[in-house]
Amino acid sequence: MAVPATTWTAIFIIATTLRLIECGDNNRVYSPCSDTKVARSDGFSFGIAFASRDVFLRNGANSTSQLSPCDTRLSLSTANSQIAVFRPKVDEISLLSVNSSSFAPDNYGGYMVAFAGHKYAARSTAAFVANSTYTVTSFTLVLEFTKGRLQHLYWKRDGCAKCSGSSGFVCLNNQDCAIKTNSCKTHGGTVDCSLGIQLAFSGTDKHLSVLNSWYEVQNLGQYSLYGLYSNLKDSLTSQYNKFF
Ligand SMILES: *[C@@H]1O[C@H](CO)[C@@H](O)[C@H](O)[C@H]1NC(C)=O
Ligand SMILES: *[C@@H]1O[C@H](CO)[C@@H](O)[C@H](O)[C@H]1NC(C)=O
Ligand SMILES: *[C@@H]1O[C@H](CO)[C@@H](O)[C@H](O)[C@H]1NC(C)=O
Repeated sequence: MAVPATTWTAIFIIATTLRLIECGDNNRVYSPCSDTKVARSDGFSFGIAFASRDVFLRNGANSTSQLSPCDTRLSLSTANSQIAVFRPKVDEISLLSVNSSSFAPDNYGGYMVAFAGHKYAARSTAAFVANSTYTVTSFTLVLEFTKGRLQHLYWKRDGCAKCSGSSGFVCLNNQDCAIKTNSCKTHGGTVDCSLGIQLAFSGTDKHLSVLNSWYEVQNLGQYSLYGLYSNLKDSLTSQYNKFF
């Protein structure tokens, strides 16, 4: 017996809807400076600002207040700074990369802060990236959500285990594997010092599903702005061998 056309239509709509629920990005907020609540597999926009450490403190180095780069009081636009915006999928691990051929972090103060949100703003501490002596190329950023709302952004550091025994690396402050800046291509050397930032999501989404990502590496180049762009590079992956 033939199935009536209307039944097929209904089946098709249900199938399509399921697929949208599973794979769709239903987050309509694209600015990293706006508030949003996300579900798993939504896109989530956040920014990374590069500047000197003092710029990230409202009144210079003495201040303890930590303003978001979205806060105009921080006057990032008048400082020597750069901003990259990324939009990874919630609960999928991503390796963001900033192509060093268009960007040398030591020319922009050498520190970076991850940020998102407006009224519910969150920002990370300022992480050292590079100065004229050392360059740190790999980072792990944890985005922690409660009921889909971003609560914390923090750099996860696992010491220098990844670089101990590797002659090209220096361990800074017992937490960061750094290479000599003058061995970077941008400074006359041979090493590609593109920045790699691995993302991990933790906490709960707006449906209280637990976020639990670790493995998803994607090229997010289309989401980075201001002339920076992200990509995954061979020279970087050698530092992430443990993950692949
Ligand atoms: C910052 O701290 C230093 C040392 O404590 C002090 O000499 C200086 O006056 C302070 N600057 C401001 C703007 O408060
Ligand atoms: C990085 O940027 C340079 C200059 O635009 C380009 O030639 C190179 O292919 C880029 N690297 C990757 C892996 O996309
Ligand atoms: C670069 O940073 C390292 C680690 O923070 C520090 O020990 C060194 O003195 C800095 N070098 C310069 C030239 O600022």
